[in-house]
Order: sequence, then structure tokens, then C-alpha cells
Amino acid sequence: MASQVTGKPATLLRVLALSAAFLLAAGERVKNKIYDEIQGDMPCFKRFNGTHEIGCTSKFFGNTGVLHVIEEKADFDWVYEHGPHQPYVLAFTPLFLTEAVLERARDSGKVSGVVVVVPEDFDPETQLLDGFSGETECPDDYLGLYSASSNPNYSGYCRRKPWNPNGTSMLYTSWEFPIFLITNQTSVDNIHSCFEKFNKPVNGMPRDWPLCSMELKSNMFGTTNSEVCMRRASIGPLSTDNFCDPLYDYNIWGTLKPMNMSEEIPEKSVIIVAARMDAATMFDNISPGANSAVSGIVTLMSAAAAIFKHKEEIINTSNKNILFILFQGETWGYIGSSRVVWDMEQGQFPYKVKDDVKDQIAQINLTHIDYFIELEQVGQAMTSSQLYLHTDPISNSNSEVKEETDNLLEIFENASDLFDKLNLIPVKEEVPLPPSSIQSFLKRVNISGVVITDHEGEFKNPYYESFLDNYRNVKYEAYSDADLYHKHITNIASLLATAIYKLATNTTKKIEADPELTNELLYCYMKNMTCNLVQENGGDMAKYMESKPAKLYVSVENGERERSYVTMYLMAWLLGDEVKRDQQDCKIESIYNMSQFYYYPRAGNGTCVQSTVRMTDAMSPAFLIDDYDWKSGEYSTWTESGWKLTKVMIFLRPSVLEEVAVVCGGVVSLVLSVIVVHFMNSRADLLFGLSTPPAAC
Ligand SMILES: *[C@@H]1O[C@H](CO)[C@@H](O)[C@H](O)[C@H]1NC(C)=O
Ligand SMILES: *[C@@H]1O[C@H](CO)[C@@H](O)[C@H](O)[C@H]1NC(C)=O
Ligand SMILES: *[C@@H]1O[C@H](CO)[C@@H](O)[C@H](O)[C@H]1NC(C)=O
Ligand SMILES: *[C@@H]1O[C@H](CO)[C@@H](O)[C@H](O)[C@H]1NC(C)=O
Ligand SMILES: *[C@@H]1O[C@H](CO)[C@@H](O)[C@H](O)[C@H]1NC(C)=O
Ligand SMILES: *[C@@H]1O[C@H](CO)[C@@H](O)[C@H](O)[C@H]1NC(C)=O
Ligand SMILES: *[C@@H]1O[C@H](CO)[C@@H](O)[C@H](O)[C@H]1NC(C)=O
Ligand SMILES: *[C@@H]1O[C@H](CO)[C@@H](O)[C@H](O)[C@H]1NC(C)=O
Repeated sequence: MASQVTGKPATLLRVLALSAAFLLAAGERVKNKIYDEIQGDMPCFKRFNGTHEIGCTSKFFGNTGVLHVIEEKADFDWVYEHGPHQPYVLAFTPLFLTEAVLERARDSGKVSGVVVVVPEDFDPETQLLDGFSGETECPDDYLGLYSASSNPNYSGYCRRKPWNPNGTSMLYTSWEFPIFLITNQTSVDNIHSCFEKFNKPVNGMPRDWPLCSMELKSNMFGTTNSEVCMRRASIGPLSTDNFCDPLYDYNIWGTLKPMNMSEEIPEKSVIIVAARMDAATMFDNISPGANSAVSGIVTLMSAAAAIFKHKEEIINTSNKNILFILFQGETWGYIGSSRVVWDMEQGQFPYKVKDDVKDQIAQINLTHIDYFIELEQVGQAMTSSQLYLHTDPISNSNSEVKEETDNLLEIFENASDLFDKLNLIPVKEEVPLPPSSIQSFLKRVNISGVVITDHEGEFKNPYYESFLDNYRNVKYEAYSDADLYHKHITNIASLLATAIYKLATNTTKKIEADPELTNELLYCYMKNMTCNLVQENGGDMAKYMESKPAKLYVSVENGERERSYVTMYLMAWLLGDEVKRDQQDCKIESIYNMSQFYYYPRAGNGTCVQSTVRMTDAMSPAFLIDDYDWKSGEYSTWTESGWKLTKVMIFLRPSVLEEVAVVCGGVVSLVLSVIVVHFMNSRADLLFGLSTPPAAC
């Protein structure tokens, strides 16, 4: 090409090409030093409520710093007292993840980011980490039944005797630097080898440039609080990235008997059996909730399946119905349960009545509730075989409610006599309920209920709402002959099913849950969501599951809610009947208002299933009430910040001098080339013997 171009343009090109080559070479030198991209999908991110902002953000272009791996406590002192190369990005294992460590990092002014590295074989027990929870010591207390109670025995109870003694409140703190969780072994190894090779101090002396550095990028769009960032979202720029979105997912529920609008539901005839569907951690994309949520979810599903086998008997002998429900977003101020209560009060649970739909689903309101049975954490009872029955002292001061509650406790105790492996212990009457969804109901109506847990006072779960609340925490050994956990959960499910049967029919019958089913469900939710059970019965969202534990974090609108759909289909399969219908008939247009619906467990294949299981919105009423007072603390106001991308890079950084030299070199050569070109241009006729171009240059 160049040979065809002659004269002045060629010279110009050559000069520009030269300077470009210089810039490129300089750029290449820097780029060659980029070590690797590190796993960056688990950032700590920002959330907001009516008054506060919590979580982390990086600067717009990311935060950079020199990597320092903390192996022992003294390494922190080295960074703060001696380290000359600030800002630093600190890397440490969960052993060092405490409020004190993060606060010192923040106050030092020398830290631009933190990565928490979790090697594959990290087992908190052998590492002597005896508890970590990002939650507060009194989870959900501020929106619970007792916060507004005038009785100081109850309202101040948790502060005197915390439910969650390992709570750090770290999740609810606003940190001024990015924090990432890194679990990919390749990434963990890269961080360690880069540090060892370039940064690790020798005899306490800092190393010289070039140094291994990290860049953490997790810039959050939202700011201040939900009120401010929701307002900004609605008037915001044309950008599609909202500043923040309300936490929003689905409650999943189904009834034993279809509820047909033409048949009136008697008062006090619906037994609610509930568990919590969601869990949370500080980090995106990881929220295993093995004990916090899965123990309850699987017990409920397994009991529901066992009861469903006795559907006809129950329907024929009783006017009671059983509503199984998984509440979503309970971690964030009882979003799901408070929404159900609100919908019931508005006369729109489960759905608003439509004019033009036949066979609509009947509406349930608070007067229809008979008993309320809730499963909270039940996983840690395996060794002691002891489960605790909690009741509410406030509603029990009403003698009618008290009588019913005593009846409920007695039914459970009699049922447990049939299962010698479990002891049920009623908790002292004056002790208020632990964090539980029933509190949303009891705020509005006095009903008799019980909350079943593995703890009497403080949680037995040392890792409540943390990334360490995984299968290891409950000692689950999937498909090993030695596994006792699935047997334990099966026992609880059997006990629950037996008690429900008695409640509904007033007949004692020992009902046994299926250990295989329990095991499969545990395996799916705690280890591998591409398990066979999900593939075969999880409906058309099953294909989006990954071979990982379920992510149980409540979502936002248009967020990741596939696991809610999968859970709904699994429930529908457990509480469903196969019916002979062809593909066309297996889908019914208005599935949400129909008293039953039909679906294929496998996308477009399999047998048609008829079921009562549905989803309803789990978004806080605060976002639906006009002029809601954001500061009132009546309903959850949690929103989540929008963001575009999160990323972690590790690279070798030359000394500042070298960097400056590279940049200056580039700038100088550019300026020089411009001058040269300009000079040649103005003297072109002399240099090349051409006439001055007509253009006024
Ligand atoms: C928002 O969260 C903060 C921190 O957890 C809490 O202190 C405050 O009471 C909450 N505000 C509302 C309105 O819920
Ligand atoms: C967690 O709580 C238990 C029980 O109160 C306590 O013994 C333990 O030291 C706590 N662990 C941490 C790391 O605070
Ligand atoms: C870890 O990261 C490496 C490189 O980025 C990737 O090839 C590997 O599949 C990841 N491993 C896991 C378990 O995700
Ligand atoms: C609902 O009840 C009406 C009247 O009893 C009946 O005609 C209809 O078939 C019922 N629908 C279902 C789905 O059971
Ligand atoms: C609850 O529903 C029944 C009908 O099933 C109705 O008579 C009653 O007024 C409703 N109660 C409330 C509080 O909406
Ligand atoms: C429940 O009953 C107790 C005792 O009678 C009473 O103090 C309380 O206000 C009642 N709660 C509701 C929501 O009606
Ligand atoms: C998850 O389960 C599927 C189906 O059984 C299996 O093919 C896959 O290998 C499993 N993945 C892991 C990581 O165990
Ligand atoms: C439908 O399911 C059957 C077995 O249940 C299987 O043999 C067949 O390949 C499936 N078809 C499609 C299209 O998935």
C-alpha cells in the first residue's frame, strides 16, 4: 500500500504511523503485564431502605490497589504501619472477615478494596471459625410483632437475649470500598502466586516495583435511600439502568383442596403451613441458606407430598383445607408474608376477582385462618434430636387463642410419640417468637400458631444468612450411606404431616414422608440445581439452572427468578394429579384465576398435571401504597441498586515513575509528530517541490 502513495501524504502517514507504533508498543508493554481476570461475579452490592444505604460500591472506573494477602493478624499491622505502597487491596479468608477488620481498613485510609478468598477446601470447622453471620443479632426485629409492643418484656427481649449471637450486622453497614467474594480455586491460586512472587515482604521489608495489583469494579448507580433513588429512577435519564428497584419475587403456595369460588370457604377452616423461601448474604450470586431456608423448604415440600397421598380421606372427612406456602423476601423485613396479609386485607388474595372468568379461585382472608404452623431453621437438631415449639405470648393472653394453641401443642406432642427419634419441647410461655413470618399475621389478627425450630433461645446455626450456611453447615452428605441429614429432615416432615392430618381430620394416623424424595430435594437445593428431579419436573425454567446450590436471594423485577418458577413447578408436581389431556388442553389461558391449572412438568412433554400450586407477588406493600411514609417502619422498604458490570483484574503494575514515563513518552511523541507534520506541511513545496495546496490550512 505505502509504495503507491507518494509525496507529502506518504510522509505524513509515515510520521503518524511511527508515533502510533510507539504508543502501541508502550500500551503493549503495560498490557503484557496484565496477569489475569479473576472471578468477579460475587461483589458486595448496595441496597437501600426508607432511611439508609448499605453495602458496597467501587468508584466509577473501579478501585485499584497493591495486593496484600493477609495470612495472620500481624499482616494487618504491617500494611497499616509499614506498607509504603498504598492504597492496598487486602485479600484474606473468612477467618478475618469481621466488623473490626473492615472498620480498621476503612479508617486507615490505606485500603481501596477487599477480596475474601475462600479456597475450595475451606471448612470453617477445621479452621476454627466458630460463627459468622452478616445479619444483626435481632434479625427482622424492627418490622416484627414486638417492635411496637408496649410490653418491655417482649419489645426489649432480643436485645437482652439475642437470637443470633454471631450476628455482626456487617450486611447492614455501608462500606466505602468494594468487597468481593472469590471462591474459584483458579482465581484463589492466582492471587496467592502473584502475591508470593512480587509482593510478599522479605524479612518485613517491602518489595520494589513492579508490584502485583488488583482492580475491583462494582460501581453502583443508586444512592442515599429508597425514597431518593426510587424518585431518581422514575424521573431519571433515558438510560434503562434504574437507580434502584424494590426487592420483588414470588410467594409460592398451593392448597390440598382446590378452592372454587362457587363454594364458600368456612371461617377458620384453612390450616396454613409455612416456611421461608429466601436467604441472603453480603454478596451477589451466593446465598445457600442451607439451614436458614432449605431445611424448612424441604421439610415443607416433603410433608406436603406425604399429606397429598391422603388427599381424598381428608377432603371426605373434613371441611378443612391446608395451605402450604413458601414466603419470599422474609430476610428483608418479612416482604412475602406482609404482602399476603395486605392482599388478604384488600380482598385480593390470591387474586382480584375478574368479571369474565369461569371457575375462579376463591378468596381467602384473615378470618379463614384456622391454625398457622411455621417451619423456621430445623437443620441443626440432628445431633440433639430436639425441636422446639415457639408460641406467641401476646395472642396467648387471649383465652380462646390460648386454648387452641394448647390443643396444637398437644397434637404435636402426641404425634412425636409416634416417632421415637424426635423430642418436641415447648418453649417457655413468656418467651416471644423468634424471627418468623407468622409475626406479620399476628400484627393484624390473633390466631393460634406455632413456630418449629432447632433452637430454644439463641440460634444453633452459627452461620445464619452467610455464605457459610451451606451443606457442610448441616452435615449433609449427599447420597452417601452414612448420610443422616436426609433422614432427620424426613422425620420432621413425617411428624409434621402426622400432626396436620390429625388437625384436619381429628384422627390419628402415622404418616411417613418419603426419604428418597427428601434426599433428592436436599441434593438439588444444597448442591446441584441441575439434578434429575429439577430436570424432570421443574418445568420450562429448569434449563436455566446451574450445577450449583440454589441461589436463594430474593430478586428484583426482571431479575433472576428462575428458581422461584422451578420451585413452583416442583410444588405443583408434588401437589398435583396427572390427568389425560392433550397438549392443547393442558394449557389454560387464564391460569392465574382458575381454581386449578394444568401444566407439563417437562417443557412441552410428559404427562399433563393438574394442580392448585401458584405464585403471587412478594413485593412490599410500601411500594403500592400512595404517599407511603418511608420512615414509618410499617412495611419493608428495601430496594437494590442497579449496576452495569462487576469485574476483578489482577495485573503487574510498574512503578509510578515508569507509568508516568510511558504516558509522557506517548504524549511527547504525539506532540512531536504534530509539530513535524505541521512543519513539513508548511514547507512541503520546498521539501518536495510541490505547489502549495489551495486549501487554507
Ligand atoms: C433501615 O436500615 C437501617 C440499618 O439496618 C435501620 O437502622 C433502619 O431502622 C431502617 N429504616 C427503616 C425505615 O426501615
Ligand atoms: C458465636 O456464638 C457462640 C454462642 O454465643 C459463641 O460461643 C461464639 O464464640 C460465637 N462466635 C463468634 C465468632 O463470635
Ligand atoms: C474458575 O475460573 C477458571 C478461569 O477463569 C475457569 O476456567 C473455571 O471453569 C472456573 N472454575 C469454576 C469451578 O467455576
Ligand atoms: C366449581 O364449582 C362449580 C359449581 O359447583 C362447578 O360447576 C365447577 O365444575 C367447579 N369447578 C371446579 C374446577 O371444580
Ligand atoms: C372475609 O371473607 C368473607 C367471605 O368469605 C366475608 O364475608 C368477610 O367479610 C371477609 N372479611 C374481611 C375482613 O374482608
Ligand atoms: C390479640 O389479643 C391480645 C390480648 O387480648 C390483645 O392485646 C391484642 O391487641 C390482640 N391483637 C390483635 C392484632 O388483635
Ligand atoms: C448435577 O446433576 C446432574 C444430573 O444428575 C449431573 O449430570 C451433573 O454432573 C451434576 N453436577 C455436579 C457438579 O455434580
Ligand atoms: C418426551 O419424554 C419421553 C419420555 O418421558 C422421551 O422419550 C422423549 O424423548 C421426550 N421428548 C422430547 C421432545 O423431549
